[in-house]
Amino acid sequence: MLDRLVLGEVPAKHHIALRDAAGNLRFEECLTRAGFDGPYTIAYHVRRPHAQRRAEVTHGFTLPAAAAERPLLKRHYRSQELPRRGGPAVDARTPLLFNDDVVLGVLHPSEADPVYFSNGDADDLYFIFQGGGVLRSMLGDLRFEENDYVCVPRGVVHRFLPDPGVAQYWLSMECLGGVGLLQQWRNELGQLRMDAPYSHRDFKLPEFVGPLDEGLRTVLVKRAGAFHGFGWATSPLDVVGWDGTVYPWAFPILNFQPRVSSVHIPPTWHGTFAARGALVCSFVPRLVDFGPDAIPCPYPHASVDCDEFIFYCRGNFTSRRGVGPGSVSHHPAGIPHGPHPGAYEASIGSKSTDELAVMLDTYKPLWPTAAALGIEDPGYQDSFL
Ligand SMILES: [Fe+2]
Repeated sequence: MLDRLVLGEVPAKHHIALRDAAGNLRFEECLTRAGFDGPYTIAYHVRRPHAQRRAEVTHGFTLPAAAAERPLLKRHYRSQELPRRGGPAVDARTPLLFNDDVVLGVLHPSEADPVYFSNGDADDLYFIFQGGGVLRSMLGDLRFEENDYVCVPRGVVHRFLPDPGVAQYWLSMECLGGVGLLQQWRNELGQLRMDAPYSHRDFKLPEFVGPLDEGLRTVLVKRAGAFHGFGWATSPLDVVGWDGTVYPWAFPILNFQPRVSSVHIPPTWHGTFAARGALVCSFVPRLVDFGPDAIPCPYPHASVDCDEFIFYCRGNFTSRRGVGPGSVSHHPAGIPHGPHPGAYEASIGSKSTDELAVMLDTYKPLWPTAAALGIEDPGYQDSFL
């Protein structure tokens, strides 16, 4: 949730009549979070937004299912080896690791969604590793590019229009308890603090395009881990204006302002977004620890409450060998993890790193899916010997 935005036409006050020139009444849709206590957006529809018919379910992405019980090991999954199935984004996700809080997967969408989608279970956070396009929602169009995070809040009716002819490779992070900016970076008014690693100007916001009728009438809804179909008589994107803090946004990872110290600082300082049970961190190119005898490589650690998931994007990742762009490492709680042999020592005296990666530390254990096991690097655990 970001600053309050007002786009299009809204009346002077909540819950009073808004009419068109012919006197027709608009219909509010109050999209509220945390019951009625949390952030909210009020959208004004031309027609009643709750007049949906049941419809056949014709789309939906793969839902996560745990593979067989697995011994506790460090894991490396080569998502770059997954077949690029393509298709619309709403069908394209392949979950790799999951728990009750997050479902982490990849997708390679190759065409525009032919239906609208509303995730009633989760906020969807994506990282656009390759590609770009437009996220079209009832709240406007949001243009996104490679290296952007894209957030679609729970309940926002939308579809993706990936740029045609461009290779798309996205990391999906379905956040079942929501995701947002870190509270510690807010002042008492909710404004991002001066010492935050990003400012309001760093975010890309939707542009209102007026009531839209693309001829699409179907909305696919995900709720309680299942897909449900609904049909509208008219366009669900018939919004004339809205006002609120709940809306899709994008954040270019390279706008994250990294911290550097005289000695190594913990990953917490790379914290970018907070989800229930998970911290999303951005590792971006930066100068490294500059104090006398500082060891810039991450120290071996037993972060005993967290599983660590890293999606490697590019650059030379200081601490790890054998991982490349698209690699996913999973270092579970229960056993310490750290750099590959030689990396710790070799990092002394280095001045900078060009690594780019997205990391999640999760409080609950992550479980792999059968798709993850199919792309596992079997030598990874022993590569630390
Ligand atoms: Fe770690």
